[in-house]
Amino acid sequence: MKVTVVGAGAVGATCADNIARKELCTELVLLDIKEGFAEGKAQDMMQTAALLGFDTKITGSTNDYSKTAGSDVVVITSGLPRKPGMTREELIGTNAGIVKGVCENILKYSPNAIIIVISNPMDTMTYLALTATGLPKNRIIGMGGTLDSSRFKYQLSQHLGCSPSDLNALVVGGHGDTTMIPLIRYATWNSAPVTDFLSAEQQQQIINDTMVGGATLTKLIGTSAWYAPGAAGAALVESIVRDEKKLFTCCVSLEGEYGQKDICLGVPVTIGRNGWEKIIDLKLNAEEQAAFNKSADAVRSMNDVLKTL
Ligand code: LAC
Repeated sequence: MKVTVVGAGAVGATCADNIARKELCTELVLLDIKEGFAEGKAQDMMQTAALLGFDTKITGSTNDYSKTAGSDVVVITSGLPRKPGMTREELIGTNAGIVKGVCENILKYSPNAIIIVISNPMDTMTYLALTATGLPKNRIIGMGGTLDSSRFKYQLSQHLGCSPSDLNALVVGGHGDTTMIPLIRYATWNSAPVTDFLSAEQQQQIINDTMVGGATLTKLIGTSAWYAPGAAGAALVESIVRDEKKLFTCCVSLEGEYGQKDICLGVPVTIGRNGWEKIIDLKLNAEEQAAFNKSADAVRSMNDVLKTL
């Protein structure tokens, strides 16, 4: 199994680090446009192999896509990260060109790869990857909801005083501060509805804090977060390479599901060896469906910007 991570910045490197530690593949390529950067990070990671006990072989490449040939999965993290006060959407002008170029180069050498998109604005970059490559829809997966759902579980765990891994919780819709929809009605603590244990005020606080999760970190750190985004990318790689068919919220092409089409948006899907395999059709109530439609409108207007670039 071979995996490539494009972009050796904080998110890409963290994703690669998680992939290597879990030995999700035999060969892992880290690629970046900055001379020597990916090679350096790959070597640094390889120097942890003896300490951490993994056998994945990590190599770095300065923009030489021939090194990525035959990748089964490719994670795209390239592009600018957010600065404090910036929305993910403001990155579209720069990142669209980068992501399109990366997709084209990747497919020259790995025509069968499954592509995971992390670059922002993630929903629009996923739509761009799908439309620019013309790949079967199941091979294009946007990571956003996987990260947002993990952040949602963290916020819930803080209020419930419980382990985040004892929680089931989904964030659907877009990966924007105002477009994501934490579905608290569906969230459970080892099968018990979390709403049984939280006041209405607490529930609202958790939803609000989840939605601005990325922005809060950007303000604290001075740039976009990387531990959870990188781990979310690696969790998707794991479910693909091990054919786990785990359920994650991912940004995928909708063709009528959830009342939307010609758009990529976050919905629960199973992830396995074929990429995203099945969309789980939750029975949203009227309020949730309205929020989903509003989220789709916002993402669609961002997708329209692609036509003007
Ligand atoms: C975040 C970026 C990766 O939410 O979108 O941290």
